[in-house]
Amino acid sequence: MGMPRNKLENSCCCRFFLFLLFFSINGGVLEAWHKGSVTRYYDFKVQSASITKLCKTSTIVTVNGMYPGPTIYAREDDTVVVEVSNLTPYNISIHLHGVRQRLTCWFDGPAYITQCPIQAGQSFKYRFTLLNQRGTLFWHAHISWLRATVHGPLIIYPKQGVGYPFQPPVEEHVIILGEYWLRDVQGLERHVKESGGGPPGSDAYTLNGLLGPLHNCSRDDIYTINVTKGKNYLLRIINAALNMEHFFMVANHTMTVVETDGEYTKPFKTTFLMLTPGQTYNVLIKADQSIGKYFMAMAPYMPAKNAPFLKKTSYGILRYASPTVKVDKLARKSHVKTSMTPLEPIIPNVNDTASVQAFSDQVKRLYPNHQWSSVDVPLRIDKTLFFTIGLNVFSCDSPDSDMLGESLRLQSTM
Ligand SMILES: *[C@@H]1O[C@H](CO)[C@@H](O)[C@H](O)[C@H]1NC(C)=O
Ligand SMILES: *[C@@H]1O[C@H](CO)[C@@H](O)[C@H](O)[C@H]1NC(C)=O
Ligand SMILES: *[C@@H]1O[C@H](CO)[C@@H](O)[C@H](O)[C@H]1NC(C)=O
Ligand SMILES: *[C@@H]1O[C@H](CO)[C@@H](O)[C@H](O)[C@H]1NC(C)=O
Ligand SMILES: *[C@@H]1O[C@H](CO)[C@@H](O)[C@H](O)[C@H]1NC(C)=O
Repeated sequence: MGMPRNKLENSCCCRFFLFLLFFSINGGVLEAWHKGSVTRYYDFKVQSASITKLCKTSTIVTVNGMYPGPTIYAREDDTVVVEVSNLTPYNISIHLHGVRQRLTCWFDGPAYITQCPIQAGQSFKYRFTLLNQRGTLFWHAHISWLRATVHGPLIIYPKQGVGYPFQPPVEEHVIILGEYWLRDVQGLERHVKESGGGPPGSDAYTLNGLLGPLHNCSRDDIYTINVTKGKNYLLRIINAALNMEHFFMVANHTMTVVETDGEYTKPFKTTFLMLTPGQTYNVLIKADQSIGKYFMAMAPYMPAKNAPFLKKTSYGILRYASPTVKVDKLARKSHVKTSMTPLEPIIPNVNDTASVQAFSDQVKRLYPNHQWSSVDVPLRIDKTLFFTIGLNVFSCDSPDSDMLGESLRLQSTM
């Protein structure tokens, strides 16, 4: 069936699947199964947890004490029920980012838009069907800036018995990109609103909540993927950063883009991705380089002049499993030495819009005429309207507006 290390195979639902399959073979419930009669239950306890990064221990809001939060696994057409209990003093809501919510728009999650927030001590049950959706999406808090730490992947496998429209990988890995603040994010947001300044840069960028080796106190805080030479891997990359757009690349490896935001794409090769906050990409990567270690990098893309942000790269490591050959002591020593320093990727400039444009232009839907995903764009134009939109910073004397460091405030015009 070609499903790589499928997390669903180990769950209790799998037995249910087999049961259904058995029945359908016997002319039973095939009809009901296609309507998405499999329901998967998730329990989200929103709670505070303490975390130590950058040599400091802070309290953050999490789901089930995890940062990033737990992964929701499902198949296309499944129904998912997420019961969210709020054990914090803060208001919370959970947005299922990218889920189309057909006929269930009230479960979309943005606080004060589709629901009142879940208040302290209360709980709320989200119930939705992943009708005709498959790929990588994610969920996050949708109130204040709590999404900085309250987020996690939503992985939708194709229906049972349906493969991917690309070479099945031997293994898959989810990489969720984030921004980490030492300061309380809700306090930060309040300050930004009161001062009129732009959002300040974060203190670190994270891959699956880990900082990589370039920060203080982060020597063991490195996300690592072990690969075997010659094998093909699927990386599901999610940008869960609060504000920043990010490049992602792996030193000396090209990636083949196969999906974005839950839609299959016409496959194309690239040396880097650029993900906006909330965007996902699925890429295939072949371990076709020499045995060694290669940095995976996330680095900011910020074309705006004067905008404050953290200009820093965070690294994870792609590590090739060493072949088990007998080597003498000296050779082993030198091998260890060379494999200590991973190879660095070439990272586009922080303002390299031309490269970003060239990358984005290649993203094309694989099934443009699919029943559920085709979009009717009207081609006849009656009237052309021209808008210019500007977002800038300007100086002011207010002592409050220190978020940008130099008494700068944000201003937008249209
Ligand atoms: C939490 O939500 C309730 C209901 O919408 C609202 O009355 C209250 O002011 C909110 N609390 C905070 C701290 O925003
Ligand atoms: C590590 O901490 C020191 C002292 O606080 C600071 O000067 C330095 O910039 C930090 N280094 C990094 C990589 O953040
Ligand atoms: C990768 O392999 C190394 C060496 O065998 C092992 O110590 C490490 O735990 C593995 N890491 C993961 C994430 O599997
Ligand atoms: C990896 O990429 C770097 C930078 O492009 C290059 O200098 C280096 O030769 C490459 N190394 C290997 C082993 O291909
Ligand atoms: C990018 O930034 C560099 C350094 O600040 C500047 O010299 C260059 O003109 C910028 N490029 C673009 C396309 O804005």
